[in-house]
Amino acid sequence: MWNFLARNKQAAAMLAVLTVAAVVVIFLTTRGSSYSIVENFDVEPNDVSQEPQVFSTYNLPTDDRFMPSVGNGHIATNIFSDTVYMNGVYNGRKGESRRARIPAWANIRLNSTLTHHPYSPVYSLDTRDGVFKVVVNRDRSVVTQRIYAHRYYTRAIINQIEVVPKTRADPNFVHHEIWIAVKLMPGSDSKDIAFVSPTPEVLEGRTVWSACGKTRVSEDPIYQPMPVEVCAYWTSVPDHLVVPHHGKRVFTFVMTADKNETVARQEFIKVLQEDGEELFLKHVEQWHRLYQQAGMEIQGNLYLSKIVNGIWYYYLSSLPSEDTYQPSDRFFGLSPTGLARGGSFEDYEGHNFWDTEMWIFPTILLLYPHYGQKLLQYRLETAFVAAELAKITGNKGYRFPWESAYTGGEVTQPCCPEVAEFEQHVTGCISFAARQYMAVTRDEEWLKHGGCSIVANIAEFWASRAVINYTTGLYDIENVMGPDEDHSNITNSVFTNIVAGYSLYLAQYVSCLCKDYFIAKQPDRWADIAWSLALPYDPVLDYHPQFSGYKRGDTIKQADVVLMGYPLQYPMNASTRANDLSYYERVTRASGPAMTWSMHAIGHLRLEDNHKAALLFNNSYEAYVREPFKIWSEYRRPHVGAVNFLTGMGGFLQALVFGYGGVSVHLDKMMITKPQLPPEATSFKIKGIKYLGADLTLDIGVEGSSLSVTSLDDTWPLIMFNGKYNITLVPGLSVILSGSGPFTIRSLPWKDCKLPADIIGQNYLRPIGL
Ligand SMILES: *[C@@H]1O[C@H](CO)[C@@H](O)[C@H](O)[C@H]1NC(C)=O
Ligand SMILES: *[C@@H]1O[C@H](CO)[C@@H](O)[C@H](O)[C@H]1NC(C)=O
Ligand SMILES: *[C@@H]1O[C@H](CO)[C@@H](O)[C@H](O)[C@H]1NC(C)=O
Ligand SMILES: *[C@@H]1O[C@H](CO)[C@@H](O)[C@H](O)[C@H]1NC(C)=O
Ligand SMILES: *[C@@H]1O[C@H](CO)[C@@H](O)[C@H](O)[C@H]1NC(C)=O
Repeated sequence: MWNFLARNKQAAAMLAVLTVAAVVVIFLTTRGSSYSIVENFDVEPNDVSQEPQVFSTYNLPTDDRFMPSVGNGHIATNIFSDTVYMNGVYNGRKGESRRARIPAWANIRLNSTLTHHPYSPVYSLDTRDGVFKVVVNRDRSVVTQRIYAHRYYTRAIINQIEVVPKTRADPNFVHHEIWIAVKLMPGSDSKDIAFVSPTPEVLEGRTVWSACGKTRVSEDPIYQPMPVEVCAYWTSVPDHLVVPHHGKRVFTFVMTADKNETVARQEFIKVLQEDGEELFLKHVEQWHRLYQQAGMEIQGNLYLSKIVNGIWYYYLSSLPSEDTYQPSDRFFGLSPTGLARGGSFEDYEGHNFWDTEMWIFPTILLLYPHYGQKLLQYRLETAFVAAELAKITGNKGYRFPWESAYTGGEVTQPCCPEVAEFEQHVTGCISFAARQYMAVTRDEEWLKHGGCSIVANIAEFWASRAVINYTTGLYDIENVMGPDEDHSNITNSVFTNIVAGYSLYLAQYVSCLCKDYFIAKQPDRWADIAWSLALPYDPVLDYHPQFSGYKRGDTIKQADVVLMGYPLQYPMNASTRANDLSYYERVTRASGPAMTWSMHAIGHLRLEDNHKAALLFNNSYEAYVREPFKIWSEYRRPHVGAVNFLTGMGGFLQALVFGYGGVSVHLDKMMITKPQLPPEATSFKIKGIKYLGADLTLDIGVEGSSLSVTSLDDTWPLIMFNGKYNITLVPGLSVILSGSGPFTIRSLPWKDCKLPADIIGQNYLRPIGL
């Protein structure tokens, strides 16, 4: 991912010496837009709830970027914002495209929360029920507002206001009706969607409004000839809710939106017909079902467990519901700031980057493999555009764009052509995600319906990018940029070459798996190229220079070589790993994003330096999680950057699952190595690990760890090495893990195919780049 700090090293240096105001001016002039660096020095309100799933506060954050969101993968909004976003709705030509703003016809405020009132409201995000609540304890009533994006009626955002009058024993007390002032605050007209003036009508006895409009500018004249139409329905909101002095009342207000007017209208009518409490329960039931499938529970460290619960809530809020009233629309991917944000340059515009595959995907895959499949599906559906991009840049196969949105074409801003041109590793990251997906699921249907083809075509791309160097006898990949965006247009980026090499090997393996229904050309040639791909290594200093010609001491933006150890799990000597970790820790600039430190934490856990790991693990979240709603910023306080930063969350979750949990996934096995408790926790449970159709729970405690089996898929019987014996897993069994492992879980081989060699550049034999 690029960002304003990375884009321009000079600017980054200036940042250090200039005042905030001066910096704002600089960026206003360079970008000529409303964009500016906004630091945040506010005191963040406390989360006063002791429940791990609930975040409560008496004060909202003064910076509304730290407000929480509600969403269901189709529609999402930041609480009390003037904006609703919808999956797959963008406005603007490529380079300018961003999520298209729909006015927030679901933003209803209780007046007692708008101006100063004697009743201090309590605001809570309940991640378990997927709802934001406002409770106002008034003289004569208790008012509770619930705001949620319905998880079954997915076109709908619901506001429910419950008024419970207080009863008075005093016989002289005169009971009056209770009046509660409310206000709908949808914000100004949308600049992105040309809504035709809203028209009123009466439906189900309610006055309602509707409006349809088209996005003003489509992304690309060829791939998107027509703008997208959006239709919305919403209930009108009176000035006051009037309640008799006895009995409680629930008022339900609804907004629906869809690309198809009939879908939006039918859903709206159906929701109006529902009983208010039933409607809410149907929503809650869907959230609970998601949490029954999987989850992570931490005891002994409330703060950590809240952060984890917040992350899963924000992740799932941007992923489509499984059980819905009307079929879900096509899914347009999980962007680094989720579905509730992305209308601005700062929030990465709702585009898709490598962040999805490399950072967000791995833990989702392990716990919710059907969502892993959804994330890959976005790439399969846009593969024909990737084929075109490879062609126009003179390559073969599929070249996925650095940033994509609606069409799957490149949509990087004109500001930053180098990231689009050089950060080609995104294509290798997609293949790496496919590898993990295959390892966890062995999904043959997926291979048949696009999987074989995407893996083979990504290999074709890398084969066409590798050029033989007659001096070294190795293949070079020139003119790339690794994850470290401070170094552009380089040769043999270690990270890029490894994902490229893995892509090539994977395609050889897949060509065997797929041979009954997919014919690959020369699969062994792919493996030959991978074997001879250059991999810079310095045998004297026993570390990996980031690319050929990297100048030792040069600062870098974020984890790059370090990703070799994890997530890429490239085999190397412990001394090399230790040297890479300590060297790159020193040269990574402080303004980089959170994910760097989560990968360093994993590295130190593997090297058994728990103290160092704990420090870096702390670094991976402490300065990035904003109170009270556990919103992640891209940069450390007081800097902000993109919010709500799902990518940083992804690194942190990986540090928990693959670092502390010790889990790792390989094409022929899953391993658990030295599982241990995260700092200060007394128990850490990863529930619902889905490996080859089985449902497993890893339970790490003070006394030791165990793996228990909830269910198994008969196709893939599992044998586990528990440290002493091989044990056949059966449902109901709980295996005590004695010693530190690795505890290996294997099944039968997947067809008679040789596993990828995954050795690149024979690096210990032929050091290059010196
Ligand atoms: C509620 O608050 C809004 C915004 O401050 C105001 O315009 C409106 O008049 C208030 N309504 C009542 C009934 O006080
Ligand atoms: C081949 O590799 C050598 C050693 O890394 C390098 O100096 C040279 O520039 C490369 N040649 C080409 C044509 O890229
Ligand atoms: C990248 O480097 C090549 C030389 O390898 C050079 O020809 C090209 O102009 C450079 N591109 C940019 C955008 O700097
Ligand atoms: C890495 O380990 C291997 C085998 O243990 C050894 O032969 C080799 O010299 C080591 N390499 C370095 C650079 O220390
Ligand atoms: C994490 O680091 C911060 C300082 O950056 C420190 O205040 C805090 O106590 C640390 N937390 C833990 C659990 O070590």
